[in-house]
Amino acid sequence: MQRVEDDTIGEILVPAEDLKRRVRELAAEVSRDYEGKDLVLVGVLKGAVLFLSDLMRHLDVPCEVDFMAVASYGSATKSSGVVRILKDLDAVIEGRDVLIVEDIVDSGLTLQYLLRNLAGRNPGSLEVCALLVKPERQKVDLRTKYVGFEIPNRFAIGYGLDYAERYRNLPFVAALKE
Ligand code: IMP
Ligand code: MG
Repeated sequence: MQRVEDDTIGEILVPAEDLKRRVRELAAEVSRDYEGKDLVLVGVLKGAVLFLSDLMRHLDVPCEVDFMAVASYGSATKSSGVVRILKDLDAVIEGRDVLIVEDIVDSGLTLQYLLRNLAGRNPGSLEVCALLVKPERQKVDLRTKYVGFEIPNRFAIGYGLDYAERYRNLPFVAALKE
């Protein structure tokens, strides 16, 4: 792991213990809400991988897991809202209860695209579970049923989130030092 003195790792936004506690709380909520349903977790690669695996570990309802990978055109730290699917679902989701698991909602444009795309496949229900949201930056109004933490308008790294593909393995969420 990178040492904490790595000079691109700035202040801690969410410590590891808070992540653990909140992920358990979210898993309890999801377990309650999806009892008796046909739950398909859709993890958005790659950022949601750590969150998804910790979340599903604590679910006590049956679930299937699938993945999508999308790329948004834009710079390293800003998305443009123009989204391209790099990997689509394996599962057919028609009539099923889909929960999108996302690392972070920044402008919300990526999620807006995903919601529209998946809604077009006629799932029985479609909701979002996002670990982090940046309320100051959100450009579109999205129904995000489950949210882990609201964070300030900083570029976040760690617990799945990358800067140029690095820092995903940090056990906490920190701000990128600029
Ligand atoms: P949005 O379309 O602006 O909401 O951005 C969505 C995607 O951009 C997320 O799923 C992340 O992969 C990436 N992203 C946005 N903000 C951050 C950040 O602060 N750190 C790391 N990745 C981010
Ligand atoms: Mg990313």
